[in-house]
Amino acid sequence: MLCSLVIFTAAVQEAAGLKKGPEAVEKWFKKLPEAKEKVTKLHFYFHDTVSGKNSTAFVLAQSNITSTSPTFFGVFNVADDPLTIGPEPDSKIVGRAQGIYGTASLEEIALLMTLNFVFTDGKYNGSTLSVLGHNPILHKYREMPIVGGSGVFRLARGIATAQTVWYNRSSNNAVVEYTVMVLHY
Ligand SMILES: *[C@@H]1O[C@H](CO)[C@@H](O)[C@H](O)[C@H]1NC(C)=O
Ligand SMILES: *[C@@H]1O[C@H](CO)[C@@H](O)[C@H](O)[C@H]1NC(C)=O
Ligand SMILES: *[C@@H]1O[C@H](CO)[C@@H](O)[C@H](O)[C@H]1NC(C)=O
Ligand SMILES: *[C@@H]1O[C@H](CO)[C@@H](O)[C@H](O)[C@H]1NC(C)=O
Repeated sequence: MLCSLVIFTAAVQEAAGLKKGPEAVEKWFKKLPEAKEKVTKLHFYFHDTVSGKNSTAFVLAQSNITSTSPTFFGVFNVADDPLTIGPEPDSKIVGRAQGIYGTASLEEIALLMTLNFVFTDGKYNGSTLSVLGHNPILHKYREMPIVGGSGVFRLARGIATAQTVWYNRSSNNAVVEYTVMVLHY
């Protein structure tokens, strides 16, 4: 009884791609030739709060031209921003966007995004996706590459499309809608 229970638990964990540790990852790689690639769509809202009591993004450093630059060139923030199901501030949190972003264009206001989406809910709990992209924040749609992932998203690649829902010019706080399409196994 105990034995079959253990096997059952292992199978369920494996199906969910959640078996961890170096041996589990090695086994996963060995089975890769038989694995089928699939497409997953994720949709969530990114709350970037840079000022006020509930800030989740903070300035790390800035260049000596930031204050006089028309594009605010060279200011970098570190963020641990909530990702939620809906755009409302009290919407259910499904993950965090943890990382660094900063203004990296002398021509227009555009960010270099280097961050991880760290999922904390449901079947993606504990899995991550890594973003490395160009984000010209005043454009309607911004496309950023998903360059990898972990857990359920091992070897993921894809595209995140960002669209600003709400932006407060005086506080610089924003809510951004993200639709992510990823290929993974
Ligand atoms: C900060 O968060 C708390 C708890 O969610 C909320 O009650 C409060 O209104 C928020 N404050 C601001 C300035 O947004
Ligand atoms: C910024 O720093 C560099 C190197 O120290 C210096 O050459 C330059 O004059 C500074 N620029 C401004 C606007 O302060
Ligand atoms: C996500 O996983 C962590 C660690 O395994 C666990 O503590 C937590 O309760 C899970 N959260 C949800 C919402 O399932
Ligand atoms: C925008 O930010 C300013 C400054 O923090 C604040 O006073 C104002 O209420 C905010 N506007 C909205 C619509 O939240």
